Amino acid sequence: MTVPQPESPGPAQDSCALEITGVVAGYGGGDVLRGVSIKVMQGGITCVVGPNGAGKSTLLSTISGLLRPRLGEITLYGERLTGRSPRQILQAGVVQVPQHHSLFREMTVRENISLGGYTLRERGLAERRFAAVQEMFPQVNEWLDKKAGSLSGGQQRLVEFARSLMLDPKLVILDEPSMGLAPKVLKSVFDAVRTMHAQGKTILLVEQNARAGLRLSTHGVVLENGLVRLAGTGREVLEHPEIGALYLGGAVSPAGGDAADGDPAEGDLAGGAGASAANGAAPGAAR
Ligand SMILES: Nc1ncnc2c1ncn2[C@@H]1O[C@H](COP(=O)(O)OP(=O)(O)O)[C@@H](O)[C@H]1O
Ligand SMILES: [Mg+2]
Repeated sequence: MTVPQPESPGPAQDSCALEITGVVAGYGGGDVLRGVSIKVMQGGITCVVGPNGAGKSTLLSTISGLLRPRLGEITLYGERLTGRSPRQILQAGVVQVPQHHSLFREMTVRENISLGGYTLRERGLAERRFAAVQEMFPQVNEWLDKKAGSLSGGQQRLVEFARSLMLDPKLVILDEPSMGLAPKVLKSVFDAVRTMHAQGKTILLVEQNARAGLRLSTHGVVLENGLVRLAGTGREVLEHPEIGALYLGGAVSPAGGDAADGDPAEGDLAGGAGASAANGAAPGAAR
């Protein structure tokens, strides 16, 4: 099957940050990813959607170096990541916010964010980064001295985002950031993703709320059974009739929202048929 490659949506996004080429990977028993090729464009948000078990998290583990691909190659701005350790890949500028909450609950928000920069040798640099992160997410300032465990799920997500930015990453990977959150706090998490994007971050997003994720993304990829089923702009994937019917709870009308700046349409975020169909199971079931 030929897979259409994403077209460049604009001048700011014509350079490829991460390139995944023909990746085959699995856990010993067989291949989960069966030849995956994806381009993540600089300055864009690329959203990977697909049913449960499609291999989305496996793909992210392979990028982060937790899983070694059996075949294929992954490069970041032409630099080979394949074969490097997770720590080396982090040093190369790829930071992942995992699917499940990952803050140290007994530590303060300030300490948790600082940990994101623990590899920074120069103290002044760590302080400048911390200040930049505070500027990007001013909400976090109010919680700095609270224990992370006392925050709501949505607030913890923002702190995890803030922590991920301490290394000024070239690529931020978010695995299902809306997982387990109440519908009314989803908007704040998606707004935070938009903020990172507006500040020039390159983002690779996996999202169970497929429609909402695609709406805020410049590019979309549908992963199905370890293969890329469709790739295009976020809007192309969103409006693809077959994909809409399969994963998004019915075809979307073009008037349904503006992918670039539309508001995130609370109705969709509230987890209608689309959200659960995309996930193939009740959201949160895996928690
Ligand atoms: N640590 C693991 N060991 C063995 N099999 C796994 C492991 N993690 C995931 N799998 C299997 O790999 C497939 C893809 O899983 P995953 O990448 O988590 O899918 P997704 O994130 O798209 O829901 C599933 O069949 C799952 O059971
Ligand atoms: Mg997953």
